[in-house]
Amino acid sequence: MLIDIEKASEILLSNSPVAIPTETVYGMAGVINNEDALKSIFQIKERPFFDPLIVHVNSIEMAKRYTSNWNDTAQKLAENFWPGPLTIILDKNDEVSSLITAGLDRVGLRMPDHALTLELIEKIQIPLAAPSANKFKKTSPTQASHVEDEFGVSFPVLDGGKTQFGIESTVVGVFDEKVEIYRPGVITRNDLEEILDIPVEHTISPVAPGQLKHHYMPQIPITITTNENEFNQVENLYKWKLEDDAAFVARELYARFREASKKSFHGIIILYKEEFKEDENWKGVLNRLFKAKTYEI
Ligand code: TXA
Ligand code: MG
Repeated sequence: MLIDIEKASEILLSNSPVAIPTETVYGMAGVINNEDALKSIFQIKERPFFDPLIVHVNSIEMAKRYTSNWNDTAQKLAENFWPGPLTIILDKNDEVSSLITAGLDRVGLRMPDHALTLELIEKIQIPLAAPSANKFKKTSPTQASHVEDEFGVSFPVLDGGKTQFGIESTVVGVFDEKVEIYRPGVITRNDLEEILDIPVEHTISPVAPGQLKHHYMPQIPITITTNENEFNQVENLYKWKLEDDAAFVARELYARFREASKKSFHGIIILYKEEFKEDENWKGVLNRLFKAKTYEI
């Protein structure tokens, strides 16, 4: 059910979840100051409690209230990239429920770049915990109808149109001496290095379950390949030869997964170029493809 900001704030303040638009993917939002609201996010997504949630704020001031170590690096990142697709992980303080952080002592903070959601947070004056609005391990939604397909037409969605970027935010762990990229996204290592003078590394975080081996999966199996001959010979699958533009592919990615499943293809085959692997701009898309794939040929 498509709802407006008024209705969304009413539902959120009654401690129930609402799907919200962001510039990356739609989020399944709940107020961070109520345990029932938080629990219902996990329940509806069938998400295990070990997977931490990102806290969405609408100002740097608001973000600072939830961490004990907002440092120069966090300040620079926020000033340069917020509102925008960057989640900053810092030490949490007592204001943050351990349900949000899955018992970890660090919390992910992000200011999304979507006017409706920023206005919604402004209206209720409480940050929103919001994982992507899909069932656990499945494809993230990039438009309101995707959320309705997954959770039913009566589920409340604040409709903000198609999302601008199409893949989830870049997640970075911020420390005094370094920044670690746990989940690549549209904001690249190069973008981060340009404004920071400490090292920025790609890392596999054992505590960041976005790092689960399988994730973002559509209803049907995905095969990925760099072999154009194999690709050309395949029949009866949904075929997608990736365009050279990483930003375009990111925007299209999840909608294509859904479209192929809906059209009752038995599978998807995606052709990409070996050279994408060396290109920072492709890190986000390839990360999603490698987790979503069933086969590689
Ligand atoms: O673009 C996005 O980030 C979207 C929109 C809705 O904001 N949200 C999103 O949330 O992708 P989710 O829950 O699907 O993915 C968040 C991931 C977690 O799975 C985890 O890997 C990482 O962010 N994360 C969150 N809090 C963390 C923490 N305290 N420590 C380590 N990793 C954390
Ligand atoms: Mg997700």
